[in-house]
Amino acid sequence: MAAVRLAAALIAEILLRPVTRRQDRLMDQRLGIGTGRSTAEPVLDPAVVASAQHRDSVAYSPTPVHQFRKILRSLPIPTPSAFTFVDLGCGKGRTLLLAAEYGFGRVVGVEFDPTLAETARQNATGCGLVTRSTAGAVEVVCGDAARYEFPPEPTVVFLFNPFGEDTLRAVVDQIEQTLALWPRPFVVAYFNPMHQEVLEGSTTLRATMRNSRWCIYTSMAV
Ligand SMILES: C[S@@+](CC[C@H](N)C(=O)[O-])C[C@H]1O[C@@H](n2cnc3c(N)ncnc32)[C@H](O)[C@@H]1O
Repeated sequence: MAAVRLAAALIAEILLRPVTRRQDRLMDQRLGIGTGRSTAEPVLDPAVVASAQHRDSVAYSPTPVHQFRKILRSLPIPTPSAFTFVDLGCGKGRTLLLAAEYGFGRVVGVEFDPTLAETARQNATGCGLVTRSTAGAVEVVCGDAARYEFPPEPTVVFLFNPFGEDTLRAVVDQIEQTLALWPRPFVVAYFNPMHQEVLEGSTTLRATMRNSRWCIYTSMAV
């Protein structure tokens, strides 16, 4: 039955692809930014890949706007303004702008490709919404997610299958360390969860929602 549901969801997604791509283009037009994937971007720069702790990175591909909005609505957080949103592997920053619009108190993107990180920064500063209503709220860090130390406030981490098991394990280690130091509400939203067994092995996070496209994990403190 689960296989039938998955197949139906995939067929629906393929049929709706022209509509969702139009939504993505409209968002870029509305905010005066560029977050689409160009033809060169499916390939990672070997020098950038070599700079990471583990060589298991996935190339840039943005989360469809409609999917990301659904994920935001499914988060178990009553007040987004009390949370910091962190996208590990933020690419050109599409999710950062949508998260800022959703009302997160602080928004952070971590991206190890300097060209993509710069584009994300330009998109954030050039976007009228961010500069007008939440100035300074969007921050882009150029670096390896495996080495990223989380801020001490309540946090939502977003992952769109950005890397493989090794980097993900390093991220889960960082999450466990930060939660041991500062126990607090902590949520991980994993879209296209190719390596969910790594999250399932965490001692401090537990799965609180699963569907065919994403999983939500929450710290015991939520
Ligand atoms: C599938 S894309 C997701 C883009 C963005 N999160 C979104 O949903 O629109 C994965 C991104 O992760 C970045 N990435 C891969 N490995 C990384 C690492 N170890 N540290 C930081 N960024 C990484 C890639 O450069 C790429 O931009």
